[in-house]
Order: sequence, then structure tokens, then C-alpha cells
Amino acid sequence: MFGAYGHTGRFVVAELAERGFVPVLSGRDADQLKTMAYGTGWEARPASVDDPAALDRALAGAAAVINCAGPFATTAAPVIEAALRAGIPYLDVAAEIEANLDTFTHFADRARDAGAVVVPAMAFFGGFGDLLATAAMGDWTTADEVHVAYGLDSWHPTAGTRSAGAVSRRRRGDRRVVFTGGRLRHRSDAPPSLEWRFPDPMGARAVIGEFTMADVVTVPSHLTVPEVRTYMTVEAARDIAAPETPQPTAVDDRGRSDQTFLVDVVVRSGGAERRATARGQDIYAVTAPLVVEALDRVLTGRTHAAGVVSAGEIFDAPGFLRALSPHITVKLP
Ligand SMILES: NC(=O)c1ccc[n+]([C@@H]2O[C@H](COP(=O)([O-])OP(=O)(O)OC[C@H]3O[C@@H](n4cnc5c(N)ncnc54)[C@H](OP(=O)(O)O)[C@@H]3O)[C@@H](O)[C@H]2O)c1
Repeated sequence: MFGAYGHTGRFVVAELAERGFVPVLSGRDADQLKTMAYGTGWEARPASVDDPAALDRALAGAAAVINCAGPFATTAAPVIEAALRAGIPYLDVAAEIEANLDTFTHFADRARDAGAVVVPAMAFFGGFGDLLATAAMGDWTTADEVHVAYGLDSWHPTAGTRSAGAVSRRRRGDRRVVFTGGRLRHRSDAPPSLEWRFPDPMGARAVIGEFTMADVVTVPSHLTVPEVRTYMTVEAARDIAAPETPQPTAVDDRGRSDQTFLVDVVVRSGGAERRATARGQDIYAVTAPLVVEALDRVLTGRTHAAGVVSAGEIFDAPGFLRALSPHITVKLP
């Protein structure tokens, strides 16, 4: 587990332990790892991403590596290289569009040739929307449009979210990005404000359209869809834009915040429409059951593909989503 002591990393470590895995704690800060490992019997193996030998020691004997250390623009490539050297699967929780694209671009051939499994964005943003879109598609192999609407009641970002966002903004020259006409394009105008009709009881809500998230990388990586659009409730968009919005605070014994989400995915083909929705609590906490379910499926061979693959391509999407109960409540077509 690389990035073990971050906010998301801690949820993932707890989930691994709960499901009977033995986590090996890794990351760049030896003291933090030692404190976290104290009294658990788990190993702490510090490693910096610019030290391949230390990464090799961190991964030695591990069944797989999960990377929760972001910005992934810095951490993904060196940890994937180490996973390829170790011959073990790699999963990460990257929300950065550019970093996820880099993973597909730079590692697709090598991972496929090696029969290795590399799953980027196996998290709330990216993998989850892809699973829902894939489940909504059902027997359709192509669609005209995929819409992923995020109904978040708030968004208290972690330091990692803020720094990842800053890196992505720099990489795209302060422009925004959209997926239209079958490819990513940059835009400099303001994104549209509109209304999205979520399923009841949420109902119609003001959203920012083209609030582009990592689903624009994961969904088109395996589904033939020229238009992929993501939307965010204005409350959450306002939270994340404001520098003073505090980090999430725990309200229950699992460490979850009181944030709730409803993800509403609509796919359209010809005149027909299909929909998949999911609800739950705390987008950071819920990333843990998502990535650990993925790990379990990879390690037990419940996969459809190898190489660099997104969640919707490698897993049986409806089965995966149903397995997330009680963390997530899903409604599939
Ligand atoms: N796709 C999604 O839905 C989703 C969900 C959750 C999280 N994420 C992403 O996951 C990342 C972590 O988020 P978080 O909430 O856990 O933030 P966080 O609490 O701030 O943790 C960030 C972690 O990354 C580590 N890190 C940063 N740069 C590093 C580097 N160069 N080398 C090694 N470790 C490094 C930090 O270690 P130090 O303390 O030593 O800096 C810390 O452990 C962010 O990029 C976030 O966007 C995505």
C-alpha cells in the first residue's frame, strides 16, 4: 500500500485489514509509517518515488500494490515501473485526467505484452462512473452519449485533492477539458450552468455542466462513445473552488464524514436511454471498498482483460457494483 498514511490511504488500509488482507505500509515518510504500523504487526517499508531500489524493497513479496499517493503525475509512473519489475498488479486512485491518460499512453503496450494488470482511477472519480456507465449500457456496445451527474451535498477536499487539482490545472494551462467528438479538447470559456434531474428524493438540482472528471478517460478507454459529459452539483463545485473550505471531518466510527453522494449515469443511443444510479456516504471513504473489491477480483482471477484497463473493462460491472453493498446502494437497469 503506497501512500498508506494519507487520508484515503488510511481508509484503504482499514478496508484491506477488514477483508483479511495483510497490508504492507509504504510511502515516503518513515516516521508516519512507523506510527501507523505501531501495535498492528504490519510492516512499514518507506520508499521515495525517485528511489527504484527502495520501491523494489517495498513491493518485495507483495501480492499487488495499491497507490494512494497523489499527485499521481509524480507517483504513478515510478510505482507502475516497480510493479512491472515485481510482476504484480498495480491499482491506483488517481483522479487527475492527465495522469490517468499518461498511464494508458505510456504503459498500455508494456503491460499488455507482460500480461500485467494496471488499473488506474479505481476510485470514486473514474472507476466508479465507468462501472455505472458500463452496467447501464448492458448489451449496447456503442452509445451516442454518456452523462455522469455527481449529486454531492458538499465537498470538503483533502490536501491531496487540492494539490492534484493544482497540478492538473497547470498541465492544461488553466484551461478546462471536455470529451466531445470522440476526443479530449481544451476550452477557455466558462462551463455551462444547468439543471440536472436526479432521481427522487433529490430531484432537480443546479449543476455545473462539463465539470470534467476522470470518467472522460476511463469510459472512452473501452466503450465507443463520442460524448462523455460529467456534471457537479453547484454546492460541491463552490466548496472545491473556495480556498477556505475545510478538510473532511469524521462523524462516525469508520472515520467517514457526513457528506453524501448520488451518482446518476445516463447513456443514450438512438432515441433510447438507460440509467444506473448509486448512493452512499463520503467519496474518500467509499474509494476504499471500490479499490479493495477490485484488488480481490484481480487476485482471484475474476477479470476480463489485462494491460492498462479501467474498471468497466476488466470487471463484470453489475456484479462488482452489487458486491459493494452495504457501502453503496445501486439501482441498475
Ligand atoms: N479518484 C478519486 O475519486 C479519488 C478519491 C480519493 C483520493 N484521490 C486522490 O488520491 C490522492 C490522495 O488523496 P488523499 O485524500 O489521501 O490526500 P492526502 O490525505 O493529502 O494524502 C496524500 C498522500 O500522498 C502522499 N504523497 C504526496 N506526494 C507524494 C510523493 N511525491 N511521494 C510519495 N508520497 C506522496 C502524501 O505523503 P506526504 O504526507 O509525505 O506528503 C500522503 O500520504 C489525491 O491525488 C486525490 O486526488 C482520488
